[in-house]
Amino acid sequence: MVEEHEATRTRPPGHRPTIVLAVAGGVAAYQAAEVARLLVLSGARVLPVMTPEARLYLGRLTLEELTGEAVHEALSEADPARTADLILLVPAPADLLSPVAGGLTAQALEAPCPVLAVSGGVAKGAPPPRDASGKQIELVGALDGIPGTLAPAIAAAALARATPRDLAGLRVVVTAGPTVEDLDPVRFLGNRSTGKMGFAVAARAAARGAEVTLIAGPVSLPTPFGALRVDVRGALAMRAALWQVLGADLAGADALIMTAAVADYRPAEAHPGKRKRTAANLTLELVPNPDLLAEIGAARAALASPALPALIGFAVETESDPQVVAYARGKLEAKRVDLVVANHASDAFGRDDNRATLVDRRGAEPLGVLPKLELADRILDRAAGLCRRSSRGTPESVPRPACR
Ligand code: CTP
Repeated sequence: MVEEHEATRTRPPGHRPTIVLAVAGGVAAYQAAEVARLLVLSGARVLPVMTPEARLYLGRLTLEELTGEAVHEALSEADPARTADLILLVPAPADLLSPVAGGLTAQALEAPCPVLAVSGGVAKGAPPPRDASGKQIELVGALDGIPGTLAPAIAAAALARATPRDLAGLRVVVTAGPTVEDLDPVRFLGNRSTGKMGFAVAARAAARGAEVTLIAGPVSLPTPFGALRVDVRGALAMRAALWQVLGADLAGADALIMTAAVADYRPAEAHPGKRKRTAANLTLELVPNPDLLAEIGAARAALASPALPALIGFAVETESDPQVVAYARGKLEAKRVDLVVANHASDAFGRDDNRATLVDRRGAEPLGVLPKLELADRILDRAAGLCRRSSRGTPESVPRPACR
């Protein structure tokens, strides 16, 4: 393994990892498309480079569409290679063992960041090359075997190498998506939440090294790398999953981030069979669901040292900005949490960005419009700060007593 790269370790928290994906010729080049997709999904900026040989195996347009970036022909052409956090070679180019001047390997070794290569046969033989300074290419995976299963492992390895692990040691529980309340086996009451915000929080927390449990209502989103996912349907199921993970003494997490749009009501009774249509009006009786976050806030307040887990809620509203913040302040107190992320329904649901204000007891910080992955980082920075100030459960980098 090469030394931990200085630039990688000193990136500020919340920095979006930038990965140069350099694709060489070879049948395994097709893997690069899936690796690119997975990295982008996890919040990385992916800068594609394809050699002319790579283009015989994989379309340039495919990588451009997946990454939203122009494809370069050589690493030397890709200016951002100089500021990237990582260069990922997929597959390891043929010249890996004897980097010819100007070849992909030689160019990668010249860049001031770590280099990962996805190896085929080379991993079995001699060690990968070093440059004059001793910098060495790291090898991951092996593309012989059943390649279809390797892309997630490659992407996870690359992301871990390119992201500062500033949340290592932190146990983060995230709820995401809507809860849906069944009326009968066919119909339900739901809401417009798509889960994108919570999945972004889980993705960034996992990429930054936290141990993540993602409790998700019914959404059609892929599980972020490294997150343990628990799928639920209704509010009562989400409540059961939360207490299962947190434990009665709330010792199972250092931070809880409740992005889920939990249904406030559920039908008094779910019909066992499909309700049949009649000509008459239909009145549904709804009963209130428990407020999951308020319950946990109350349980924390009753603890001997009630600082952790850090509790972060959301407030989605439809009023003017000052009223949105006022509601968020009310929820901060009523639910006894540390931070409320206030946002407007029209800015939030289904979008890849959001316009949010962070509201705590010290004041309100409007963040403007941010991609959800970046907003996730800001929220996680606050969560880490709350943990740092408390007696347990802080990131490794911060001197603290052991996690309980
Ligand atoms: N929440 C919860 N349990 C509920 C309702 C909401 O845990 N039954 C949590 C949400 O996950 C969110 C916060 O409380 O973090 C605020 O949710 P929101 O729907 O904005 O507010 P409500 O408390 O439901 O209040 P209202 O609908 O009246 O605005």
